Amino acid sequence: MKVVLPGGTGHLGRVLGRRLAGEGHEVVVLTRRAAGPEPGVRHVRWDGRSAGPWTAEIDGSDVVLNLAGRSVNCRYTRANLREMLNSRVDSARVVGGAIERAARPPRVWLQMSTATIYAHTSGPPNDETTGVLGGDEPDVPAYWAYSVDIAKAWEREQRLAATPHTRKVALRTAMVMSPEPGGAFTMLLRLARLGLGGPVAGGAQYMSWIHDGDLARAIEFLIEREDVSGPVNLSAPEPLPYGEFLRTLRTAAGVRVGLPATRWMAEIGAFVLRSDTELLLKSRRVVPGRLLKAGFEFNHPTWPTAADDLVSRARGSLPPAT
Ligand SMILES: NC(=O)c1ccc[n+]([C@@H]2O[C@H](COP(=O)([O-])OP(=O)(O)OC[C@H]3O[C@@H](n4cnc5c(N)ncnc54)[C@H](OP(=O)(O)O)[C@@H]3O)[C@@H](O)[C@H]2O)c1
Repeated sequence: MKVVLPGGTGHLGRVLGRRLAGEGHEVVVLTRRAAGPEPGVRHVRWDGRSAGPWTAEIDGSDVVLNLAGRSVNCRYTRANLREMLNSRVDSARVVGGAIERAARPPRVWLQMSTATIYAHTSGPPNDETTGVLGGDEPDVPAYWAYSVDIAKAWEREQRLAATPHTRKVALRTAMVMSPEPGGAFTMLLRLARLGLGGPVAGGAQYMSWIHDGDLARAIEFLIEREDVSGPVNLSAPEPLPYGEFLRTLRTAAGVRVGLPATRWMAEIGAFVLRSDTELLLKSRRVVPGRLLKAGFEFNHPTWPTAADDLVSRARGSLPPAT
């Protein structure tokens, strides 16, 4: 297959691009900059918001997997929030336009979205059918609505695109756990090794996650499954409270102590790390209803075994993800 990855220079793009290239597929990454060489990957320039010669890569491709978007791991300033929104909406719109105008459109457009679209909850888990979307929960900081609004606008852009010959899937993805540098797992593992991997603000908030091997396999599954379109949750079937998630990670890493942190300590930590506490404190309880119904089998459904695998790979003692 020819697979086009807009925004494929980032954390997930490296994980997925390397795997797809390793399987013999032609991989083209759209980037705004002069990206370093990646084996098996061809880089093509675009600006993420307007049509250009790059659209020729989409015409005649088999799969488009759009990963572009300003990182959400930042301070939620007005300017950053605007860029988080615009980079997602603009790139989805321009990718949709390229597919609409293609003489030979791809058979599937997988558009990255996020599990953050669901409401903050510790109640019943959110699947695609009965799940409650966020944005107006009474008991959370009002500004948490921004990331939900961004996610809704992102998905709307894909939904509105007129691409009758291209199946559209919105990937409502939970936090991806991968030993690939630059992601959430390596940061959490580093904190755990420093003795800082204790519960934050009580640790009862739910953590939804997916192992990088299962993320890649689920994407390959969705490429093949012609009968699946619309929103699909990419998350392991067993989200768990954050305190338990970190305790399990410490066990896997052989670290005994994990100092707890209060909400205000988390605020200070997030400030120092130029991040936002929503990423830690929002309770995301998201389950993969549609994937399981379609017959997808997770290799890493539960966190203890996934954490063992990830820690071993981070130490370099295991081969790449399966
Ligand atoms: N990692 C996760 O756990 C996770 C979970 C759920 C959803 N997601 C979503 O999945 C996508 C990929 O995640 P990631 O972790 O790979 O993110 P990442 O490392 O931040 O990479 C995203 C890529 O988007 C491009 N980009 C950044 N700002 C842009 C802009 N203003 N306009 C156009 N392109 C821009 C960049 O490519 P260039 O600089 O090369 O143009 C960058 O490499 C993101 O949208 C993220 O929100 C990630």
